[in-house]
Amino acid sequence: MEIFDVEKISYTYKNGKKAVDDVSFRVKEGESLTIIGTNGSGKSTLLYLLNGLITPESGSIKIYGRDSENGFSSELRQRISLLFQNPHAQLFLLSVWDELCFGPSQLELDKPGIRKRAEDILGLLGIEHLRDRGPWDLSGGEMKKVALGTCLSINPDVLLLDEPTTGLDPKSQVEFVDLINELRHAGKTVITATHDLGIIEDISDRTIVLGEDHRVLLEGKPWDIMENTNALLHANLIHKHVHRHTWYVHEHSHFGTHEHEHVVLNEVSDAGYTKNETREAAFMMTDMEKLKKLLTHWAEHNEEHAKTYLEWAEKARESGDKEIYNILKEIAENTKRLDGLFEKARKIVGK
Ligand SMILES: Nc1ncnc2c1ncn2[C@@H]1O[C@H](COP(=O)(O)OP(=O)(O)OP(=O)(O)O)[C@@H](O)[C@H]1O
Ligand SMILES: [Mg+2]
Repeated sequence: MEIFDVEKISYTYKNGKKAVDDVSFRVKEGESLTIIGTNGSGKSTLLYLLNGLITPESGSIKIYGRDSENGFSSELRQRISLLFQNPHAQLFLLSVWDELCFGPSQLELDKPGIRKRAEDILGLLGIEHLRDRGPWDLSGGEMKKVALGTCLSINPDVLLLDEPTTGLDPKSQVEFVDLINELRHAGKTVITATHDLGIIEDISDRTIVLGEDHRVLLEGKPWDIMENTNALLHANLIHKHVHRHTWYVHEHSHFGTHEHEHVVLNEVSDAGYTKNETREAAFMMTDMEKLKKLLTHWAEHNEEHAKTYLEWAEKARESGDKEIYNILKEIAENTKRLDGLFEKARKIVGK
C-alpha cells in the first residue's frame, strides 16, 4: 500500500523564499526513506508538508490514497508523527513524564494503559532517570530523546524524523540506528531527513538527494547514492580534499568519516606520522570497518594508482631501466581488472 504519493509539490514561505520546488516521490508502507541535502535545501519543509503542518502551493500529496488538500483528520494525526529538528518545538509540559503521557492520553487508553505506554518509552530509550526532570533543562541530546519518545508514545504507523541523530553521543547514535531497524521490522514506515551520511545505508531502503535548488537531484538505493561522488559533490554534501601520501599527492572527496579515513590510510602507510590520538580512534574501529574503508579507498583510487604506476614506468624508461619499465607497465595494465573485484568485495563487506 502507498502511504505517500507526492506529485510535483512546491512551497514558498511568506517572505518569498522558495523551499521546495517541483518534488515528486512515493513511499510504500513499511519502507524506510532517507532525505539528504545541504542546509536550506528544503528537507524540514518537506517533512512539514508530509505532516500537514503546511500545504503545498502547487502539486498534490495523497496520504493512504486520500487527497490531503482538505486537511488532516484526527485519525491521520495519530498515524503519522513528526520529530522536529529542534526539540524545543516539541516539548511544552512541566516534566518528561507528562510529555510521555500526553500523546497516549489523547488516545482511547485508560490510566494504567497510559502509564504503561510512558514507562515502556522510558525503558526503550533508556531515559528512566529523566522521568521527573523538566524538559527545558535537559541537555540537547536528552531533549532529542524525550522528543523522540513523545513521537513514539502514540505508536504511529509512520515516523517523520528530522535530523534525529543530531546532538546524540556516538553510543546513542548506534542505539538510534538499532531502534530504527526495530521499528522497520515492526512494519513502521520511516522517513528521515539527515546530514548524517554515515547512517543512510544502515537505516534506509531508498534515498532522495535534494539539491540546493530545492528539487530532487537524485533518488536511489542509499549505497548507490553514497558511491555517486559526483552527485554528492554537486549537492555540496561532500568536499574535495587534497591528500599528501608518502610519495605523491592526489585529490579525493570525503564523507562524514573524515578523521577515520585519514587514520586508516595512515595506518597502512609506512610514513609513521600517525598521531597517538588518531591511532586510538583507529583501534576503536572493528577490522570489518577498517576493511570497508580500505576497499572504498582502493576502489576509488584504483585508476589514479594506475596513472602513478605509468608515471613511474615512464621515469624508469627515461633513466634507461627497461626491466622496471616493463614490470610497472604490466602492473598498470592489469590494474583495470581489479576495479570489479574491489566493488564486489566492498558490497560483501558492506552487507
Ligand atoms: N519559517 C520560515 N520562513 C521563511 N523561510 C524559511 C522558513 N523556514 C525555512 N525557510 C527557508 O526555506 C528554505 C528551506 O529550509 P528548510 O528548513 O526546509 O531546509 P533544510 O534542508 O531542512 O535545512 P537544514 O539542513 O539547515 O535543516 C531555506 O532557504 C530556508 O531559509
Ligand atoms: Mg532542516
